[in-house]
Amino acid sequence: MEFFNTRDALQTALDMRRLTGQRIGLVPTMGNLHEGHLALVDEARKRCGYVLATIFINPLQFGPGEDLANYPRTLEEDLEKLASRGCDAVFVPPDHEMYPNGLDNLTLVTVPGLSERHCGKSRPGHFSGVCTVVSKLFNLTQPDAAFFGEKDYQQLQIIRKMAGDLCFPLDIIGVPTVRLPSGLAMSSRNGYLDESQLLKAATLYQCLQIAADRMQQGDRQYGKIEQAACSRLEQAGFIVDYFNISHADTLEPATDKDRQLVILAAARLGPTRLIDNIRCSLPVASVSIATGME
Ligand code: PAJ
Repeated sequence: MEFFNTRDALQTALDMRRLTGQRIGLVPTMGNLHEGHLALVDEARKRCGYVLATIFINPLQFGPGEDLANYPRTLEEDLEKLASRGCDAVFVPPDHEMYPNGLDNLTLVTVPGLSERHCGKSRPGHFSGVCTVVSKLFNLTQPDAAFFGEKDYQQLQIIRKMAGDLCFPLDIIGVPTVRLPSGLAMSSRNGYLDESQLLKAATLYQCLQIAADRMQQGDRQYGKIEQAACSRLEQAGFIVDYFNISHADTLEPATDKDRQLVILAAARLGPTRLIDNIRCSLPVASVSIATGME
């Protein structure tokens, strides 16, 4: 596996790949890799001739008091995991390669609307930090496709919108969430949980499933479904940030006419904030057509 930590070396290597007509797949990460990240590499491997992962803990997307300083740094293990999955190259830039002019008065990329809901409410500036670094990675690497997890559903939708609005000529591919046998979505932040919290953490996905089942059975009282889930999470020891039934594309509150929905949730166990979501496609109401043939 090739290793790059400067933009120049990376771009020279990518130019060569482009000359040979290889399709370039980009997998951006912040490291501390687990099976969720590696599923993105696997998907990129299937679709692209040259798979490039990036590992960069992006300071711009962490708010004050968030876990930037403590974010797990496990580079050696990460490199082994990437190589074992057939990743062709990894870019691990130091901060000054990504932000050569520092962070003051930096040009930012912001997707209004979508970024203000859900996680955006409790993490102001977070999605702008994500969009800025992702658009820089797109410009630096000019991939044919970029791979993101559905685990971070709001992030995925925001990046899709950004890529469309800014005419980035690439495909954004969403990859399904990888879960532990308990149902808990794999996450670097699971490492902050002790054993008893790990057991409780599975309640988050259970609540999403219960809510989705109620909706599939025809319950359209979304406010009540959300409240029931919040109570259940609180009983399990969570502090709930939000549990929102939303339109799958706009992420606005769902109406009883919407059919493509997503339930998005964020809740804290102790200091650890977990997020998860579940998609929910409701059947289109059947229409009876009078044929006049009786
Ligand atoms: P990070 O949290 O490291 O995640 C990198 C990618 O892995 C994201 O696209 C995320 O959605 C995906 N991922 C994480 N856990 C997953 C799981 N259980 N199943 C499937 N995919 C999963 O997300 C970021 O980094 C950053 O915001 C980044 C996009 C790299 C920009 O800095």
